[in-house]
Amino acid sequence: MEKVIFEYHSQPAAYVPVTKLAVANKYIPAEFLGSVELDLPQASEQDVIRHFTALSKLNFSVDSGFYPLGSCTMKYNPKVNEAVADFDGLAGAHPYAPEESVQGALELLYELEIFLKEVSGFQGLTLQPAAGAHGESTGILLIKAYHRHKQPAQKRTIILVPDTAHGTNPATAALAGYQVRQVQSDNQGNIDLAELKKNLNANVAALMLTNPNTLGLFERNILAVSRLVHENGALLYGDGANFNALLGLVKPAELGFDVMHFNLHKTFSAPHGGGGPGAGAVGCSKELTPFLPVPRVRKNREIFTLDYQPKNSIGKIRSFYGNFLTAVRAYAYFLALGAEGIAKVGRQAILNANYLRQRLEKIYHVPYSRTCMHEFVLTPQPDWAVNTLDIAKRIIDYGFHPPTIYFPLIVHEAMMIEPTETETKETMDTFAAALVKIAQEAAQKPEILKRAPQTSPVGRIDEAQANRQLILKYEKRVSG
Ligand SMILES: Cc1ncc(COP(=O)(O)O)c(C=O)c1O
Repeated sequence: MEKVIFEYHSQPAAYVPVTKLAVANKYIPAEFLGSVELDLPQASEQDVIRHFTALSKLNFSVDSGFYPLGSCTMKYNPKVNEAVADFDGLAGAHPYAPEESVQGALELLYELEIFLKEVSGFQGLTLQPAAGAHGESTGILLIKAYHRHKQPAQKRTIILVPDTAHGTNPATAALAGYQVRQVQSDNQGNIDLAELKKNLNANVAALMLTNPNTLGLFERNILAVSRLVHENGALLYGDGANFNALLGLVKPAELGFDVMHFNLHKTFSAPHGGGGPGAGAVGCSKELTPFLPVPRVRKNREIFTLDYQPKNSIGKIRSFYGNFLTAVRAYAYFLALGAEGIAKVGRQAILNANYLRQRLEKIYHVPYSRTCMHEFVLTPQPDWAVNTLDIAKRIIDYGFHPPTIYFPLIVHEAMMIEPTETETKETMDTFAAALVKIAQEAAQKPEILKRAPQTSPVGRIDEAQANRQLILKYEKRVSG
């Protein structure tokens, strides 16, 4: 097993520098220096390189292989984004720098807002939220402010959420102080219109809807849904985390959404998960724009400024200007793809998912067998003596990251696959071939799947225990 860096005490070797890992005293005034000798690691350059290279190989990443983690859009992140985010003027810009000295950074934010408004059809936009879920909470606060402003006497205390929703949706609504009511889906995977009508009343503030929904299906009744919601005086919130499926095909504002968050880190290709912070930009209608958080980036005669004044704003939701370098990556992605490239994203995401779905449809069970958007759900065949977890673990042995499992919750034993638009037919064919083999194993030798994974640095762990008994601090191992 790989040691942790604190366990290194490298011996000097010929030509390999050993750096004494002490804090550079010359920069720290003597009165601030303590006298205790810290037990810091003494590692040679060679050991450090080998240590971190070994650690990096234990992990799986989108740079090392196919990562079809449904709902997470683990698409390839072009390295040009990283190069741009590393430009001195952007990476080194200080948040307290005077506006006149960061005109380029402000221009970038201003233009990114325009790009996002253009692809979504919204009239107002903020780049401040730090993640998708934070975007949700910002959007719901806009809705709350809107209702308070428009009808102060009316108590709209309920938010409706379909049973297919991502868990962050009901959590967001509850955190914002709303009662959450669940609306059932019909047998086609769409929100059930009759159920929606039953739940709509004068106390409903909004419906939070994901389109495509978390089954990877386009809400076919979206126009009827938005009409019903609006007739009731409520607003339609869009969870735009799956926006890569719509990019270049349809603008959410034209479907009737009043406000929507984007997951910049998913749709616009910034590394996420362990790879870096995200950003959850929020777009909204003209009616909601006055409530957007501050600061707003303004342009007046080629000069960019930050406006903290809008009187109806919900205020500040995050320090400074959001996760600025994630915005930079999204901006670089827009420029690299251009209008023509951006217009193709949705089509390719849908084509890839449907290609893979068709290849696997006869072998696995597909609970909603219809043309999907950017992702689809499979389950094991009922006569196999394995469950979804066994299949996911076996996929690791074939060299792929497993799909999302046991989500969405409304499908028993769900396995959700999202190939994303950046994968080639060849990669998807190799993955499909692996899944076909695993299906044969599941039917004939289920014990192979029960023992999986065999090829990974760690075997099958007790995930429930790992979640319940978190050990997050390093404790030095005593040898001997
Ligand atoms: C449909 C949906 N909504 C919301 C979120 C939350 O986004 P984040 O993880 O950035 O908070 C996700 C995350 O992937 C998602 O898939």
